[in-house]
Amino acid sequence: MNNSLLPKMKAYFTRKLLDWNARNNRREMPWKGEKDPYKIWLSEIILQQTRVEQGRDYYLKFIQQFPRVADLANAPEEKVFKLWEGLGYYSRCRNLIASARMIHADHNDVFPATYEEILALKGVGTYTAAAIASFAYNQPYAVVDGNVLRVLSRYFGIETPIDSAKGKALYTGLAGELLPAKQAGAYNQALMDFGATVCKPQGPLCDACPLKTRCIAYSQKKTGVLPIKEKKLLRKSRWFYYSVLRYKNQVFIRQRTDKDIWQSLHEFPLVETAEKLTEQQLIRHPGIKIYLEKGEITGFSKPYVQQLTHQTIHGQFIEIRLHSRPDTLKIFTAVDLPYLGEFAFPKLITTYLKEKNVNLS
Ligand code: ADE
Repeated sequence: MNNSLLPKMKAYFTRKLLDWNARNNRREMPWKGEKDPYKIWLSEIILQQTRVEQGRDYYLKFIQQFPRVADLANAPEEKVFKLWEGLGYYSRCRNLIASARMIHADHNDVFPATYEEILALKGVGTYTAAAIASFAYNQPYAVVDGNVLRVLSRYFGIETPIDSAKGKALYTGLAGELLPAKQAGAYNQALMDFGATVCKPQGPLCDACPLKTRCIAYSQKKTGVLPIKEKKLLRKSRWFYYSVLRYKNQVFIRQRTDKDIWQSLHEFPLVETAEKLTEQQLIRHPGIKIYLEKGEITGFSKPYVQQLTHQTIHGQFIEIRLHSRPDTLKIFTAVDLPYLGEFAFPKLITTYLKEKNVNLS
């Protein structure tokens, strides 16, 4: 990049983006223009790892059930988890509850109004704190996430890896310089929407882009290579074999408590392996065989797969009818089938139950 052009490129970027925002009518987003910091916070936590289309209904359900932060702080945990069910990344839900209770205990149910206090809430990082501070209070904090990094890398033609220490410092500095202090909220919203709908990761809409005449990646045909990442994402595979133990009209579940995926969600008795097992191997596995001493297999489900960011979970359900109750079931809760819907499960399990026509509503 020719450095003497840089100030012009920066001013052009901010101006064009704000112009674009004034004309942009992205499908109605219920949190847009919202000024209540509690509602903004809710929407931002939901949108941290969820697409706008999927997050919208959850957001509406949450503000209907819990119109104020005090309502969320006073709600039973299981009710909040149930409402979150299907959204994934459940640490967000645990942090939501913890932060609401913190606001109740330490801030008298009034949502904090400074960037530092907002950042101190559990589950709120610099991106979310900047979004809340700029949307609710128009404070001058720039949002920087994967979308923003992509837009900046392409427009300015920056090849420094976005996940390197050098890259983080460079992009954060640049984002701060681009931010128009008096229009921080509108600018941040513009950048988010622009990254999601125009400067998309794959298939960016360059023909319709308001920045194309000055975009380095566009003129050098580099939109397919920018942004550059240093580390390749490696996914670990895990195999989860669930015993669905039926005794009369009951099944047995437990809550996941370990520091692992799906903490606080419920599941059936689980055997986890690092490799795929055949049905023959499964019936010989001690963690399953123990139930077969008091019952019989009525079926094996098809295999299920759930992709997480860093892991691929392969799931299969072994359906077993018990003739009597084994002692080993003491650590599980026996649930009458019609009440299964009161518990929150990972998507892998709700998908299986829905396919089995178990009513979860
Ligand atoms: N992603 C994260 N926050 C968002 C917002 N406020 N609008 C659209 N997409 C978002």
